[in-house]
Amino acid sequence: MSSTSMSPPRETVAGAFDVESLMRADLPPAAARWTGFPEFNLVGGHNDAASVPVDGLIEAATRVLQREGPTLSTYGLASGPLGYLPLREFIVRKLARDAGIRCTPDEVLITSGSLQGLDLVNDVFLAPGDTVVVEDMNYAGTLSRLKRRGANIVGVPLDSGGMRIDALDAALADLARRGIRPKFIYTIPTVQNPTATVMSTERRAQLLELSARYGVPIFEDECYADLTWDGVRPQALRGMPGGDRVVHIGSFSKTIAPALRIGYLVAGWPLMGRILALKTDGGTGALEQMVLAEYCATHFDSHVKALRATLRRKVEILMAAIRDSFGAAATFADPTGGIFLWMALPQPVDTTRLAQVALQAGVAINPGAEWMTDGDAGRSWLRVCFAHPDEPTMRNGLARLAEVCRREFDVPAAVGGVHAGGGSRTPLPPPSVGEGRDGGCVRNSP
Ligand SMILES: Cc1ncc(COP(=O)(O)O)c(C=O)c1O
Repeated sequence: MSSTSMSPPRETVAGAFDVESLMRADLPPAAARWTGFPEFNLVGGHNDAASVPVDGLIEAATRVLQREGPTLSTYGLASGPLGYLPLREFIVRKLARDAGIRCTPDEVLITSGSLQGLDLVNDVFLAPGDTVVVEDMNYAGTLSRLKRRGANIVGVPLDSGGMRIDALDAALADLARRGIRPKFIYTIPTVQNPTATVMSTERRAQLLELSARYGVPIFEDECYADLTWDGVRPQALRGMPGGDRVVHIGSFSKTIAPALRIGYLVAGWPLMGRILALKTDGGTGALEQMVLAEYCATHFDSHVKALRATLRRKVEILMAAIRDSFGAAATFADPTGGIFLWMALPQPVDTTRLAQVALQAGVAINPGAEWMTDGDAGRSWLRVCFAHPDEPTMRNGLARLAEVCRREFDVPAAVGGVHAGGGSRTPLPPPSVGEGRDGGCVRNSP
C-alpha cells in the first residue's frame, strides 16, 4: 500500500469530522470539564487529608520497590490476574478476623476501587430490564449504574436498623407473584451510604433466609465497615451460614486513600471465573497494590484506630455546625461511623434546587434525589461529607448553606427559627421492639 493511500481523510486532520454522529445513541450525558473544587466542598467520598499516612506509604513504597521492583516487568506482577498475592493474603487474614469471612486468596480479586467490583458484578448479572432489589436510600454511584443499564430498581425502605426485612419479604413475594426473580439484593449493611445505619446480625440472618427462600443472591458492599466509632461491626453476610450466595466487595478508599483506587471482591468459584473473564484491563494498578500490602501488614490497625477517632471528632464539629446554622429545621441521626451525615430539611426545601444555588455561592452538597430510588422522596434530604472539610470549612460552609436556603425557601425561618437543641431528632424510624444492633458483633481492629 502506498503512503498516499494510508493518509487519513483531510477532514480528520483538520478536525472538521463529525464524530458525535458516530457515537452510540445510548451514551450518558457528556461530563463537564473539571474547574476545581468549590470553596466549601461537602460532597463526595473524599477523606481527611491529614490522615493519609504519607510517611508510612513512602517507607513501604521504597521497601517493596527495592525488593520486588523488577516484577513490574510483567502484567499482574508474579501473582496472576487476581492481583498481588501478599495483598490478597492480607485481605484474607483481615476478613477472617474482622468480618468472620473464611476465604482463600483465590477467592479474592483486587479491583480498581470497589466501583470496578460493582461494574463487574453488574456485567455478570444484568441485562436491560432485569430487576434488582436495593435499599431505597442508596449510594448514588450504585443507583446511576443500575439506571444506566436499564435495570428495574425495586427500593426497600430502611429504618434506623438498616434495610427492613418485613418490607424486603413483601417486595420479594410481590415480585415472585408476578413471575419476576430479581438478579440480586444489593445491600450496604454496615454504615450504610447515605444513612450510616448498621444492620444487626439478627437481620442479616433473616436476609440470608429470604435470599435462600426466593433464590436471589446477595451483593454485599462493605467499604465503611472498618469505620464504626466503637470499633464493632457485625459479621459480614458473606461469613454467615448461607454466605456462599453472597458476593462481597470492599475497599481501601475509606480507610487509607480513595485516590489509590484499590478495592477487592470476594466470591467463590465458578462465579469468580465468570467475573475474572470480564476484567480485561490487564490488571489493577500494581504499585498501589504493592505499597498497600507492605504498609497494611504492620500499620493498618493503628492507622484505622486513629482515623476513626479523627472522623468521630469531625462529625461532632459538623453536627454542631448544622445545629448552629439550621437549628430545629435540620433533622438527622448521629451517624454510627463512616464519613457522611444524612439530613432532612422541611418539605418546602428542594435540595436539588438548593444544591444548584448553593454551588453558585461556593458550597457543594449532595442533593437527596440522587440518593434515593424514588427521587421525589429524596426532595428534602441532603448528604454532607465530614471527612474531607476542615473545621472552618464545615462551620462557614454550613452557615453559607443556611443563608442560601433561607433566601430561597425561607428555611430556617428568620433568626428566631434557629435555636439550640434542634437537629437531634432521628429522621428514620427505629427498628421494631426487641431488635438489637450488637448481637454477634465482631470488634474491629484495636
Ligand atoms: C457504598 C459504596 N460503594 C462503593 C464505593 C466506591 O468506592 P471505591 O471505588 O473508591 O472503592 C463507594 C464510594 O463512596 C460507596 O460509598
